[in-house]
Amino acid sequence: MVKVTVVGSCSMDLVVTSPKRPQAGETVLGSSFKTVPGGKGANQAVAASRLGADVFMIGCVGSDHYGKEIIDNLRKNGVKTDYVKPVADLESGTAHIVLAEGDNSIIVVKGANDAVTPAYVEGAKAAIEQADIVLIQQETPEETVLYTADLCAKAGVPLVVNPAPARPVHERIIEQAAYLTPNEHEAAYLFPTLRQEEALKKYPEKLLITEGAQGVRYYDGNQEVLVPSYRVEAVDTTGAGDTFNAAFAVAAAEGKGLEESLRFANRAASLSVTKFGAQGGMPSRKEVEEHLS
Ligand code: RIB
Repeated sequence: MVKVTVVGSCSMDLVVTSPKRPQAGETVLGSSFKTVPGGKGANQAVAASRLGADVFMIGCVGSDHYGKEIIDNLRKNGVKTDYVKPVADLESGTAHIVLAEGDNSIIVVKGANDAVTPAYVEGAKAAIEQADIVLIQQETPEETVLYTADLCAKAGVPLVVNPAPARPVHERIIEQAAYLTPNEHEAAYLFPTLRQEEALKKYPEKLLITEGAQGVRYYDGNQEVLVPSYRVEAVDTTGAGDTFNAAFAVAAAEGKGLEESLRFANRAASLSVTKFGAQGGMPSRKEVEEHLS
């Protein structure tokens, strides 16, 4: 069983389903409202655990009802929560999601996720040092991503940086990451002066650009490779990227080759979109393997 540690956000997703996305100044009638656990960090931790990894989550929640629910949900999914702490006087992070017209739009209010500081990660570094692989995203402060990258480099633990949501990324994070997994929009933030093909060439087998339903693209040292995605009937694409990252990290830590790891990740991500909620459709190991074969 590989050991995966996730540093990142733990949030509650407040999800409205609506036939139509409102324009500025417009009010529309939605058809349902649900609260489900989310946050890119927690999603990746849950996905990795369902895929059979031994997972530590490093994160913060508010000292509110959502915080308790988020921690309970992580535990229920087999994620170790020794380093998930409720923070006094802060609200849990929330993601305000509209599902409409076949896609989602999301506003994240980081809340307690901003308390995942370098000092906080330092206090949890035992979980990083013992890991086979570490995953991080960008719903915590930028200095935390940099600090984690430094810690991983020092400990010799490979780091997967999922630079989502998009923001400029410190050069040292790019250099120290074992893998970078932006989508095309996030890639433009990472490499503002490079065209996509130039960036791919500069970071062979490290820069893995996800292209949604198309698949994932990287440069193998000789040419660009597109590992195609799988066609499914999508119900809710929220959390597909998180499932992809977690599955890729698990497969890479198990020693699978790059292309095989990406195929595994694409398969897991494609299954995740077939049910409602970021974590609702995240598959088990058995489900992914059955579909791959
Ligand atoms: O990646 C999906 C996640 O992003 C959602 O669960 C939501 O919490 C947002 O942060």
